[in-house]
Amino acid sequence: MNSDRRIIKLQSVGSTNDFLREQGHNYTEPMVIAQAGYQSAGRGQGTNRWESAPGKNLLFSLLVHPGSVDVRRQFVLSMAGALAVGDALASYTGGISLKWPNDVYWNDRKISGTLIETTLAGSAIKDCIFGIGINVNQQTFVSDAPNPVSLYQILHRETEIDEVLSRVLDAFAHYYAQVTAGAYGDISRLYHERLYRRDGAYTFRDSEGTFTASISHVEDDGHLVLRDTGGNERRYAFKEINYII
Ligand code: BTN
Repeated sequence: MNSDRRIIKLQSVGSTNDFLREQGHNYTEPMVIAQAGYQSAGRGQGTNRWESAPGKNLLFSLLVHPGSVDVRRQFVLSMAGALAVGDALASYTGGISLKWPNDVYWNDRKISGTLIETTLAGSAIKDCIFGIGINVNQQTFVSDAPNPVSLYQILHRETEIDEVLSRVLDAFAHYYAQVTAGAYGDISRLYHERLYRRDGAYTFRDSEGTFTASISHVEDDGHLVLRDTGGNERRYAFKEINYII
């Protein structure tokens, strides 16, 4: 039993993010986790839905209160979350990397996505909800989600969902302690090391069209900076740029 963590298990819910936003204040532990076997309205980034067959995958949200993090540095939380999921998945398989901003990839396919929602108090982050979906035992995907993959498809065997959760939470506790200690540089360094397509030139598409570029770096505020073949730096917010995979 870990007194810093409360895990609420739900058989079925609309969205674990919504559950914690509405109910999270009823719990006093520094980390509150809501895990569901099924979500009837699981949300992905933007207007996307999150596909998950009932009981097959890890679907959870994690609520923390990182009051020491300034809103201008909130991307450090995103990096910590991605690192935690990446570490947990790397304990099962090779080929894991972090696709900016916070997807986790196995080779060129998406195994996990995170939807982060924050509440501010002045310029500090009062509440941060990480909504994390990890494809664990799903055998086939039917939605038009681009290039999904599950651990089952990689390992050809089932994996215990609660074991994956426990590995993510242990890794998250480690990175979150670094966040609260202000070790943003350490987190950022590791995040950059683990980035998908960190080395080499690839095709990207922005509002102007496709071009070839390599990743220069991710700024503290989360913008992605690319260097195109003409040597020009191009800076993007989330959703302003697509990787051609
Ligand atoms: C993405 O589109 O990449 C983000 C997907 C996030 C899905 C998870 S599943 C648990 C939590 N509850 C939700 O409604 N969404 C997140």
